[in-house]
Amino acid sequence: MKNAVIPVAGLGTRLLPATKSQPKEMLPVGRKPIVQYIVEELIQVGVKEILFVTGPGKTSLENHFDMNHELVQTLREKGKEEQLAELEFDRFHVQYYYTRQRQLLGLGHAVSCARSFVGSDPFVVALGDSIIGLNAQSDVVRRMEACFEEQDCAAVIAFEEVPRHEVSQYGIARPASDGEVFQLLDIIEKPALDEAPSNLAVAARYVFTPRIFAALDRTEPGKGGEIQLTDAIKLLIEEGEKVCGVRLQGERRYDIGNFESYFQAFVEFALADEKYGASLRDYIRSLNGA
Ligand code: G1P
Repeated sequence: MKNAVIPVAGLGTRLLPATKSQPKEMLPVGRKPIVQYIVEELIQVGVKEILFVTGPGKTSLENHFDMNHELVQTLREKGKEEQLAELEFDRFHVQYYYTRQRQLLGLGHAVSCARSFVGSDPFVVALGDSIIGLNAQSDVVRRMEACFEEQDCAAVIAFEEVPRHEVSQYGIARPASDGEVFQLLDIIEKPALDEAPSNLAVAARYVFTPRIFAALDRTEPGKGGEIQLTDAIKLLIEEGEKVCGVRLQGERRYDIGNFESYFQAFVEFALADEKYGASLRDYIRSLNGA
């Protein structure tokens, strides 16, 4: 799929004070900011054009994907080849676009800001605060595209199983069957534990036809008074459209939405670091022994 949308307008209030003056998507996990992993994941599956739906205070994110000629020049002059190589990512053959979500009316509203970027082609939505797979090694979006095409769906959503006590943090599926790919009978945004139809939680990746925009237009404010993407998907299902789910297989989702999972992600990625992972492991062992 050629086009992807990354909503990054959220305020990141669950990660204050770290996010007071920097976007949560720019927090590092290991060596890279979160959003770089997301872009790398999308590029691996063939995305060529990426629209960021931003908000106030997100300019550092735009700068990150821009070329910094002065920095390149300085590193070149000093012969810092290793560091220069670290900047290669900004030379991906991808086109970046930015638009502002001018009112924070919810994720559904953020996605609707992508309407003219998307035009009439199907597109991917990748939420800016979840990395899929260690070092973003995941082709789940490709598996979702395959399902989208084979089953002629209006939407395909990635899901992962979460512990029952976490269902109220996510969109939760009512699947028609078991298995890696399943049809969705219903989807509920952040249900209470006793209302959750399963423990299959939306894992921050979606593939849509542009028909989602008409559904978003008809979506009333839901949980938290916000226009919820989940509610627009529910509307598609109620109107007879086919919506499918694809389970994560082997790859984990790193949700950076709160400090607990952010710390876990950082430690796991740092432990996997080629250069420093082994010594970090020794260091952590030494702390445990203390
Ligand atoms: C959003 C969606 C939710 C989804 C989650 C995945 O919630 O509304 O359905 O499960 O992302 O990360 P948020 O984390 O923005 O509250």
